[in-house]
Amino acid sequence: MGWDELRATVKGCTACPLRAGCTQTVFGVGDENADWLLIGEAPGAEEDRLGEPFVGQAGRLLDNMLAALELRRGENVYIANVLKCRPPGNRNPEPDEVAKCSPYLRRQIQLIQPKLIVAMGRFAVQTLLDTDSTIGSLRGSVHAYQGVPLVVTYHPAYLLRNLPDKAKAWADLVFARKTIKQ
Ligand code: URA
Repeated sequence: MGWDELRATVKGCTACPLRAGCTQTVFGVGDENADWLLIGEAPGAEEDRLGEPFVGQAGRLLDNMLAALELRRGENVYIANVLKCRPPGNRNPEPDEVAKCSPYLRRQIQLIQPKLIVAMGRFAVQTLLDTDSTIGSLRGSVHAYQGVPLVVTYHPAYLLRNLPDKAKAWADLVFARKTIKQ
């Protein structure tokens, strides 16, 4: 499946109940040949309204952190979520929803062929690495998803509530940049 077909398939997807309760699917955004692929959990209210990942308050923090690395969404960066539809009330995704939606992200990764995946937040990290381990225990190492190097960090929405951990997230991004350069 190429980009156009994948985009259309996601747009028309009714494989799980989430699509019935959201405004629109949120496919992903950015440079389709990016070295950096950032992956979050699922669209929130603003993302559901606008159809783009990380456009709310957490997204602004993410953009600022990218800017500190001299990166910008759309330029060598692609941003996507594990789930393409907003769970009602931002509840945690159900295993069946993840199972139905995961093939879309897998295909996005195959098409992008990023040099590095940055998994943001417990949900994305534990889903992609198929683990119950905490972010704290997984930070600072290079893992892999589908053969692509993967590093983990905190979710920007979590950082907004836990400002002291911003320094750790910054360290994670510096580690990511070092990994990508190697
Ligand atoms: N949180 C996420 O995990 N993804 C978004 O797109 C927005 C908020």
